[in-house]
Amino acid sequence: MATLITGGTGLIGACLAEKLLAHGERVVLFDLAIAERRITPLRAHGDRLQVVQGDVQSIVALLDVVRAHGVTSIVHLAYQLGHGCNRSPERATRVNILGTVNVLEAARLSGLERVLLASSIAVYGSDEEYAPGERPLREDVPLRVASGLPIYGGGKLYLEHLARNYAEQYGLTVAGLRPSIVYGWGRESGSSAFTGEMIDRAAVGQPARVEFGDARVSLVYVEDVAEQFQALLDADPRVLARRRFFNTGGDTCTVRELVAVVERLVPGAQIEIASAGEAHIAGLAASVSGRSLETEIGYKRRFTPLEIGVRAEIDTARARAALPPLAR
Ligand SMILES: NC(=O)c1ccc[n+]([C@@H]2O[C@H](COP(=O)([O-])OP(=O)(O)OC[C@H]3O[C@@H](n4cnc5c(N)ncnc54)[C@H](O)[C@@H]3O)[C@@H](O)[C@H]2O)c1
Repeated sequence: MATLITGGTGLIGACLAEKLLAHGERVVLFDLAIAERRITPLRAHGDRLQVVQGDVQSIVALLDVVRAHGVTSIVHLAYQLGHGCNRSPERATRVNILGTVNVLEAARLSGLERVLLASSIAVYGSDEEYAPGERPLREDVPLRVASGLPIYGGGKLYLEHLARNYAEQYGLTVAGLRPSIVYGWGRESGSSAFTGEMIDRAAVGQPARVEFGDARVSLVYVEDVAEQFQALLDADPRVLARRRFFNTGGDTCTVRELVAVVERLVPGAQIEIASAGEAHIAGLAASVSGRSLETEIGYKRRFTPLEIGVRAEIDTARARAALPPLAR
């Protein structure tokens, strides 16, 4: 029994791997570009961790890795993030759409138990597209994809359609999360990567700069997202047949308020804030409800309010730089 995580050495994948390994499980990380700095600590788990370099554009590579490592479930995280999709739509379509269908096909052909997918709050579009009474946004609100992120968000919407199709037509258990903006140590991809970068830099005394100062965001700490995926790996398939995609939920604030939290925790932090008055980052909603995950799966976010998660990221960044944790 092993869980395959595609995009497994990325921000969320490496954190999920750590949780599963700590739980005594076997994990296979499949990634095009192995981020060694994220997975070095995981090597302590010996051969319960396998790392395979590969591309989700190849179904043959996916079938091989499933067969070679006795994979029973897949968490599919490999994806091209943010504006990179708009700049190279052909590549984004191959990686994001073909990559997802390859994972689902590999699971179907190999008779796997379960596939989890990463959708996104990008499927909602921005808050302004919804009436006040519809917010915070629940999973069953009629969707309006953000005009600012057609390739990324559109891909996530199609990924959800694929999930439903594979579940209904082939009986595969397919479910997933719609994460808010994920912050955590070492985040470097996507339109909102500057949030994590700013926290990491301030944590070790380096000057930082953020844009979108007045934009409202919904922020979720990477450890909560990893634990939410872990909860979905264990969830009753009948529950997942009723609702396939769950918001992670998040703490809503402006980028400026996020900076204020960091400044409270790291006195003397030098953080420059730029703003062109944007209401949101890349069309992402900021008012998102995480209630369904709590009531239907039983996962309540641990890293809330925001200060708790930001402190955890700061302490991780400091530990990585051989600095002591923040004073309590
Ligand atoms: N970070 C966020 O704020 C956020 C929010 C919502 C949804 N998500 C989704 O969660 C998933 C993981 O996000 P993350 O923040 O860990 O991103 P990440 O960029 O840190 O990790 C993605 C990983 O996928 C790998 N990858 C890219 N193309 C690949 C390919 N063709 N084959 C194999 N591997 C490939 C990358 O090398 C990278 O390690 C993505 O699907 C993303 O869209 C992330």
